[in-house]
Amino acid sequence: MIIKKLSFDNFRNLEAGEIYPDSGINVIYGNNAQGKTNLLEALWLFTGGHSFRGNKDKELPRLIDGVNSLYCKLSADFYSFKREQNAEIIIKDGKKTCSLNGIGNKSAAYLVGKICAVIFSPEHLDLIKEGPSKRRAFIDAAICQIKPSYASILSKYNRVVTQRNALIKELFKNPYLSDTLDIWNERMASLGSDIINERLKYIEALKPYVKDIYSGMSSEKEKLDLDYICSFNTKNDGDIYTSFRKALDEAYKSDVNQGFSTVGPHRDDLALFIDNKSVRSFGSQGQQRSCVLSLKLSEAKMLEKSVGEAPIILLDDVMSELDNKRQDYLLNHLTDKQVFITCCSPETVNLLKKGKTFYMENGEVIKKDL
Ligand SMILES: Nc1ncnc2c1ncn2[C@@H]1O[C@H](COP(=O)(O)OP(=O)(O)O)[C@@H](O)[C@H]1O
Ligand SMILES: [Mg+2]
Repeated sequence: MIIKKLSFDNFRNLEAGEIYPDSGINVIYGNNAQGKTNLLEALWLFTGGHSFRGNKDKELPRLIDGVNSLYCKLSADFYSFKREQNAEIIIKDGKKTCSLNGIGNKSAAYLVGKICAVIFSPEHLDLIKEGPSKRRAFIDAAICQIKPSYASILSKYNRVVTQRNALIKELFKNPYLSDTLDIWNERMASLGSDIINERLKYIEALKPYVKDIYSGMSSEKEKLDLDYICSFNTKNDGDIYTSFRKALDEAYKSDVNQGFSTVGPHRDDLALFIDNKSVRSFGSQGQQRSCVLSLKLSEAKMLEKSVGEAPIILLDDVMSELDNKRQDYLLNHLTDKQVFITCCSPETVNLLKKGKTFYMENGEVIKKDL
């Protein structure tokens, strides 16, 4: 998948302009608050999702003297699935619509699957720094992209957990209701084991990519490993369903005492180790960043394998805290796909061997020669 041309009109601080990206690496550099992330956000919107910044659509059109312009347009010419295509996004009166190859007035979701992208922004470091829910969300979102039916299993499971939790709270006061718990345990074990099996399958397939990319980033000096951590014992019994069903029965007392369901995929985690030490507890800033990058780039590999097209890679502000060798890896070794990297320092740009560079100042993009 290659973006050949991106035009923007009144998108955030980008007034009106266009860029013709390289089919490989594109570096967008400039001082803070000039519009570099805005440009990546514009590209990301073509994936059909919401802004990765969590903003509302009506905040996207350019503010002029503090007032939102009424109209904002993005257009992308891209090559994908062996043909030249065009997509447009228009935000008018706070409402976002899109069109694909001239067929217009669709909701943004119409673009899902037409342009695929993987984004890394500094907030994604939460994936390492924060608790297990961020890591579960990463795995779940990645699986949903390649298997949309997984989303419905997840939402059914979450509903069952909510209902079981309500019953658990009730049981504290009325233990005679415990017979009804069996039905919820059964549903939870059935849906929950499907979730765990999908996650295990995904992690197993992801693992070789993550290890390989991390090894490349660290010039083969460090070894990254990852493991899915189940919240219950899976060693003794046959399959996940049987172990989970048993674990739910065994957790009865602690569930009632704590007032919620203490075991299940909603409590699982993904553990990451560099040279056998937990990245979360012991990793340096640069190692944690490299680790998240390896996960994201591997997610892109998985997407490519499933869709048959390499997604575009958007790397926002990744370079700080990475040494020259790691920067060199990102700039010069991701050659088989289209990458957009933003950074502040012109020195970083000098490391680029092949690709295009764009200088961003006050919402204006200026192409610079290498
Ligand atoms: N709707 C908008 N209209 C005009 N300017 C905006 C809008 N949204 C954000 N901005 C401006 O864009 C700038 C931030 O751009 P950003 O892409 O985050 O910068 P950076 O180059 O540091 O990545 C800020 O100055 C912000 O005020
Ligand atoms: Mg930025």
